[in-house]
Amino acid sequence: LPAHDLVVVGSGFFGLTVAERVASEFGLRVLVLESRNHLGGNAYSEIEPSTGIEIHRYGAHLFHTSNERVWDYVNRFTTFTGYQHRVFTISKSRVYPMPINLATICEYFGEHLTPSDARELIRQQAAEIDASSADNLEEKAIALIGRPLYEAFVRGYTEKQWQTDPRQLPADVISRLPVRYNFDNRYFNDKYEGLPTDGYTAWLQRMADTPGISVWLGTDFFDVRSQLRPGTPVVYTGPIDRYFGYAEGELGWRTLDFEQEVLDVGDFQGTPVMNYADSDVPWTRIHEFRHFHPERASYPQDRTVIVREYSREAGRADEPYYPVNTERDRSVLARYRARAAAEPDVYFGGRLGTYKYLDMHMAIASAFSMVDNELAPRLRN
Ligand code: FDA
Repeated sequence: LPAHDLVVVGSGFFGLTVAERVASEFGLRVLVLESRNHLGGNAYSEIEPSTGIEIHRYGAHLFHTSNERVWDYVNRFTTFTGYQHRVFTISKSRVYPMPINLATICEYFGEHLTPSDARELIRQQAAEIDASSADNLEEKAIALIGRPLYEAFVRGYTEKQWQTDPRQLPADVISRLPVRYNFDNRYFNDKYEGLPTDGYTAWLQRMADTPGISVWLGTDFFDVRSQLRPGTPVVYTGPIDRYFGYAEGELGWRTLDFEQEVLDVGDFQGTPVMNYADSDVPWTRIHEFRHFHPERASYPQDRTVIVREYSREAGRADEPYYPVNTERDRSVLARYRARAAAEPDVYFGGRLGTYKYLDMHMAIASAFSMVDNELAPRLRN
């Protein structure tokens, strides 16, 4: 292994942000180990060769943040397009904007409703069930938005996401279901939003190109750890249960299967993301990646790439995407956290190392905190 002052396990946004900060701010040598044969973690993207269209291999990634420090930071490595995310859904052969807003409600009930009319209508429909007495997801959702909207937009989608009847799911899977009583159908509310102009991989590569950083691809930490000098600090962004040899049991994750297809049409669905709310369609949504970059003149006019997404429980060999976070998971996690606290040279971070869903801007902000609060006192002379 090359000489280094810090080892970072994983080259996702968390690991690369730590590596870049430690190399640039402290002038130290950082060795990044990445088990995959590419860097960037789940934000990695690649060009579909027959069309030149950029595909996000591990699911669509939309950048958004209200954090000024994160926004200033990411703009050092990439510029952003003016992309604004919007999502539509198909329910019983009709198309509606998501998340549920006044346009969705007017369209669904087939009449013009003012914001206060709509609020009153949904209040009456939600009164069917009292939220505090709801003892499964279906009852909780009805208590929040009423039965008609639940049945049209939540039931089938939730059933496919969890592969479970919503009446069998715990009520606390949802704490709120956002309904907007205006015509705003932007998906994110953050101050800044956009997609990296020349793609995620170019952005991530520029972070990794910082002097002082070496990246070893195709290298699993557990295969080389015996070669590390004892006492070398390690930032570990892999799964926390794996680090401890699953000694306390496995943490539950959901994964996604992606089915990619190149079609001989210039435009398949007219928008980047179409959700499928009905339970008789097996996929949850379809992404059409050309629409993330309408500004790219190089994309072909007669071909397009679509990706159907299916959701299921992850096994050990699958990519872990979303923490399931049951009561059992939380108690297993608490035991791993206690073990982690007893490892003086290893710092656990990122979504896999902390068993938390983190958006990209959250992973970056959380890496800043680790550098400022834990690594700086140790590494800075
Ligand atoms: P990440 O998983 O990216 O990186 C961890 C890396 O560690 C991986 O590359 C892995 O191979 C490596 N590794 C693990 N164990 C190892 C070992 N033993 N040795 C060596 N390497 C090892 N966010 C957002 O802001 N907008 C969005 O639209 C989306 N969309 C989205 C869709 C889907 C389906 C998912 C699952 C996630 C998102 N995200 C997102 C979240 C985004 O992916 C997330 O913020 C980052 O992946 C977090 O980066 P990390 O570095 O924590 O993990």
